[in-house]
Amino acid sequence: MGRAKKAILAYSGGVDTSVCIPYLKEEWGVEEIITLAADLGQGEELGPIKQKALDSGASISLVADVTKEFIEDYAFPAIQANALYENRYPLSTALARPLIAKKLVEAAEEYGADAVAHGCTGKGNDQVRFDVAIAGLNPNIKVLTPAREWGMSREETIAYGEKFGIPSPVKKSSPFSIDRNLLGRSVEAGPLEDPWNEPPEEIYAMTSAIADTPDTPEYVEIGFEAGLPVSLDGTALAPVELVTQLNAIVGRHGYGRIDMVENRLVGIKSREIYEAPALLALIHAHRDIESLTLTKDVSHYKRGIEETYSQMVYNGLWFNPLKQALDAFIKETQTRVSGTVRVKLFKGTMTIVGRKSANTLITEELSTYGADDKFDHKAAEGFIYVWGLPTRVWSEKLRG
Ligand code: ARG
Repeated sequence: MGRAKKAILAYSGGVDTSVCIPYLKEEWGVEEIITLAADLGQGEELGPIKQKALDSGASISLVADVTKEFIEDYAFPAIQANALYENRYPLSTALARPLIAKKLVEAAEEYGADAVAHGCTGKGNDQVRFDVAIAGLNPNIKVLTPAREWGMSREETIAYGEKFGIPSPVKKSSPFSIDRNLLGRSVEAGPLEDPWNEPPEEIYAMTSAIADTPDTPEYVEIGFEAGLPVSLDGTALAPVELVTQLNAIVGRHGYGRIDMVENRLVGIKSREIYEAPALLALIHAHRDIESLTLTKDVSHYKRGIEETYSQMVYNGLWFNPLKQALDAFIKETQTRVSGTVRVKLFKGTMTIVGRKSANTLITEELSTYGADDKFDHKAAEGFIYVWGLPTRVWSEKLRG
């Protein structure tokens, strides 16, 4: 008796996930493997991948186009949360994992599989995100993780695959480990493991080198409605279209790169290079329109929520009751976050140069330094007396 009868395997077309197919069947006695490749708008032709799974021994090879769901249900809530892990990483990879997990669970339910499988190793965040999301969605489904247990080196993995007709990679494989989707690219390993090494220009694909960026600035007006990006330069765009266009605009000015050392959930530090042009631009623009439309107390309180939210997404807790409660809080704060942010892109920078909103909380008669000032200056005196009272008392006692 094997570990499961039928499994849905998250499939990328790479050697590791391909080898998972014969491995699960031969070593772990799984009778049938159905693969599922997710199209997250990574701009890759998935037809060959579909065939490759069948050639590697899958009984059915599924390709799911989940780009729309990815942007609408995962990226946009994260933008409303201004989600940045450790204040920098906009979670472009992390956000895709719960969605892939959801598709695996749905396929398992549809095809009557008793297990799902993925090819993550035991050192990263992604294994945690998959396993915990799957448990959160259907705790009765087994999760098989061959690559976490097989203990084969890269060469051994390739040799194992060859026995089952899985071709070894044709081109000399790149030293980098790359994850990509419509939101961004995450690049690690190889020479990047030394945090002192400058990333070579060739690792970037969505953002131009400064030397290749236009010599004149470009302005873009990003429209928001209830905290969601809805238009570029006044043209209403559906979410996927908006992100696609903004990636191109922002990317050609070289904005959206991040080079950081981050703390993984499993305790390891890792040097990562990201590029996420549209997503980063949208988070910064969104935060700016919030500054015009949220009250001081909501805005300050929300910063703490954003920090917890970002950590939860990074740490694989997407389908978790606290995360859902934070979502509800964030959604409630967004009802009046509407307006337009004007940004200027130039030589790797994005500067916010204007914002306007029908819901602006700037009241001219309060903030003006001119003659029509309606702020009650005398009220300030009493307020400051009360506000400063504890400090005054403390100081008096100290000095006797
Ligand atoms: N460190 C990022 C995260 O945990 C990205 C990992 C991406 N994986 C890769 N193979 N580069 O979300």
